[in-house]
Amino acid sequence: MDCFEINGGPRLRGTVNISGSKNAALPILAATILCEGETVLHRVPDLADVRQMTHLLEKLGLSVERTGPGTLRIRVEDEMNCHAEYKEVSKMRASVCVMGPLLAKRKQAQVAMPGGCSIGDRPVDLHIQGMTALGADFELTNGDMLLKAKKLKGAEIFLGGAFGSTVTGTANVMMAAVLADGRTIIESAACEPEIVDLSEFLNKCGANIKGYGTPRITIEGTGSLTGCEHTILPDRIEAGTFAIAAAITNGDLSLKCARLEHMLAVVDRLRKIGVIIERAEDGVAVSSARRLEPIDITTQPYPGFPTDLQAQVMALLCLADGNSVLCEKVFPDRFLHVAELNRMGARLRKEGPTVIVQGVKRLVGAPVMASDLRASAGLVLAGLVARGRTVVRRAYHIDRGYERIEEKLSAVGADVRRVDEEL
Ligand code: EPU
Repeated sequence: MDCFEINGGPRLRGTVNISGSKNAALPILAATILCEGETVLHRVPDLADVRQMTHLLEKLGLSVERTGPGTLRIRVEDEMNCHAEYKEVSKMRASVCVMGPLLAKRKQAQVAMPGGCSIGDRPVDLHIQGMTALGADFELTNGDMLLKAKKLKGAEIFLGGAFGSTVTGTANVMMAAVLADGRTIIESAACEPEIVDLSEFLNKCGANIKGYGTPRITIEGTGSLTGCEHTILPDRIEAGTFAIAAAITNGDLSLKCARLEHMLAVVDRLRKIGVIIERAEDGVAVSSARRLEPIDITTQPYPGFPTDLQAQVMALLCLADGNSVLCEKVFPDRFLHVAELNRMGARLRKEGPTVIVQGVKRLVGAPVMASDLRASAGLVLAGLVARGRTVVRRAYHIDRGYERIEEKLSAVGADVRRVDEEL
């Protein structure tokens, strides 16, 4: 099993190419189930989660060919199989995104019910609520969600839950509604840029979706969709992670292709911490003032501060000059990194969905355990600045969502390498 070995200290300087967004690519890949003919996707990141999704698509009768760096050619060959099995769904929760396309195109979707995961409970009640509002019959059978509908019918659907909107739930309902009879209105829809990218992809294929990027999405159902050519948007979470890498090492990075307009909550908080972050030609430039100010941050659905950067910004705030408060309002249990950061000399105290961060002068290297994708990124960032050697075990978590992170970090001066833990 791989781990990352990091010797903390070097300031990061140079340019990092930001990859295509994982969380845009996954639902767009699922959406190809809806299409007649060929789809060509560009800037698809080469990640474990993307490989897992293409594997699932192949099981569902699609052919997926990687024809160049970042380019996939996809075509539906066979529409017999409608079953996303537990073996697949348990490896990657975003597999649930095939539900809407299968139901709309093949009139039936059998998708294993995902369990919780290391970031907490992850229910899918809103996904099912949306599908049944569109006229699907639902039953739970042997751990699978079985949905059937001869023809879906447009409806008015409220998708807000206790923790706000749902990103993959909005994606799923949209992908089901594009082939329904009549008009669907999704109220309290997720506004994330990844939903905008999916909507733009579907519209290029012939769908009629309006209002995406706002909490009210309107979809006029259409008879069929035809594959198209589309470029996945740049990953705002990868960009945010590298912005924090620049800040934590007191470095200076250009994030090529990053879109500042998708990162405004992050930009606002980082500037208040004392980080210099500006729009640059073809991306975003980040450098850091020496002193880091403490600050309060609450994670929220977009356009709020993303939960997917909570662990990374926590690593940064560990070194601020005073006390900060981090409140997690999307996944209240997403705090497995707290104990690991404390092993590196952080002073973190968790109170329910809140962590009080007492700034310390320095972090010290230690062996730590990655628990999920973003938590691992937080530990790697802490390792970049910790005194001595940090070993982040279970690197596979980070490979799910960051393309060759150790190569990208080394190229801008970090002392990080991937090693086989067994050696
Ligand atoms: N929720 C419900 N019912 C549902 C669905 C969600 O109560 O039916 C709750 C969740 O438990 C959570 C909140 O709603 O409290 C928001 O969850 P959401 O459904 O938006 O999360 P998701 O769609 O499963 C996506 C990303 C996550 C990211 C979240 C929040 C993908 C593939 N995943 O998950 O990304 O953290 O939105 O922004 O897009 C990651 O990349 O590391 C990651 C976990």
